Amino acid sequence: MEVFRILGGTPLNGEVQVNGAKNAALPIFAATLLTSEPCTIENVPDLSDIRFMGEILESMGASVVRKSPNTWQIQAKSIDPVAPYEQVRKMRASICLMGPLVSRFKRAEISLPGGCVIGPRPIDLHLKGLRKLGCKIDIRSGYLHLDASSLHGGRLFLGGRHGSTVTGTSNLIMAAVLAQGTTIIDSAACEPEVTDLCRMLVSMGAKIDGIGSHELHIHGVSELGGCTHSVLPDRIEAGTYILGTALASGDVVIHGARDRHLNSLLDKLEQIGVETETVSGRPDSIRVTRRSDVHLNPTDIITLPFPGFPTDLQAQMSSLMSVTPGLSIITERVYPHRFMHVPELQRMGADIAIEGASAIIKGVGQLSGAPVMASDLRASAALILAGIAAKGETWVQRIYHLDRGYENFDKKLCQLGANVERLSAKKMPSSLQHDS
Ligand code: EPZ
Repeated sequence: MEVFRILGGTPLNGEVQVNGAKNAALPIFAATLLTSEPCTIENVPDLSDIRFMGEILESMGASVVRKSPNTWQIQAKSIDPVAPYEQVRKMRASICLMGPLVSRFKRAEISLPGGCVIGPRPIDLHLKGLRKLGCKIDIRSGYLHLDASSLHGGRLFLGGRHGSTVTGTSNLIMAAVLAQGTTIIDSAACEPEVTDLCRMLVSMGAKIDGIGSHELHIHGVSELGGCTHSVLPDRIEAGTYILGTALASGDVVIHGARDRHLNSLLDKLEQIGVETETVSGRPDSIRVTRRSDVHLNPTDIITLPFPGFPTDLQAQMSSLMSVTPGLSIITERVYPHRFMHVPELQRMGADIAIEGASAIIKGVGQLSGAPVMASDLRASAALILAGIAAKGETWVQRIYHLDRGYENFDKKLCQLGANVERLSAKKMPSSLQHDS
């Protein structure tokens, strides 16, 4: 186990390049099951979740070759369409193997995904959609047994009580691309990661209209070919560095940050008083400048499906609001209980009260360093950013959560001037260790 030791109080300055988006790469890896031809996937982030998805595909019979740290070649010639419990329980995103398996092999066996600290992660919308496409689904001893021998197009509505479903949309697009007939998906998720998957599928020969919108029309084809696809940059990683600079103050250019994928964040930062601008001549680079003497304004945030404020930036925004004078309110409409970072921020002196699905945050002058515990990958990032801005020393435990979603986070932050050390957990003074 490893920990981060952070000495706070340093501004962030310089340039940083974000990697490919984890939440695009995972369904894109699953989509390679849709063809027997080789698929080359570029700009893949070097993350534990990605490596794990590669292992799952290999265990099902695919040839998985990592050509370079960020380029993989996957060929699914002969596949056993069974995704075992041992693997699925470790990473719930493996649920997006369902769609391609039923699409190409007309059957699948996959373990029901486990729970998750950020809240219940149901798949009722995934299953409702698959049944509409003719899948027969049996749930026996924790496994989903899917029979898609009569897979056909249909009209699906994917709106749930918390909006649409991102991986549910990806699953059902992949199920529909090889189904007989046309599928219409109403209330589809239109996150950029779903759009990126659609672009890859079209390059393989799929016929999809309405890409990027909430209504997708998918015309089933008989087979798909291989492809070479480069994963889009990670807007959540980009937003994390933007918020880190707003917190610590400084002047940073984030390469790979597309304003059209981050407008909800950039709009809020303008209200708060943090300057951002697209670098002239570089549409995929955003410069964020925060002078330490600039007064920040409190604000209110509601997390929503894209293009609303992303739930995956909520924890990082909570850290910024913790040191913004005045009263800010953050309401979670996607995962109403996604506040595991709050008790840890309180250990650093944050003044936050949870009221239902909202966090009421009273800004304090400065946070103070403390030993804290990461609980999920975005909470980890939020605590690290808070530690960089805090006075004194912060130890962040269980940073394996972070390594699931951020490539070289500590190295990149150090390049920007932060004082972050990745150490063995044994190096942490026992007096500071606490059980969560
Ligand atoms: C994806 O999860 C992302 N993960 C999550 O990112 C992200 O937070 C989430 O979308 C929302 O943007 C990946 O893409 C691998 P959902 P997903 O299905 O697809 C409810 C991160 O930090 N729902 O869009 O699993 C659900 O309970 C991770 O990178 C149903 O009710 O999320 C939630 O409240 C965390 N029934 C809401 O919809 C369903 O069948 C959104 O869930 C499915 C979901």
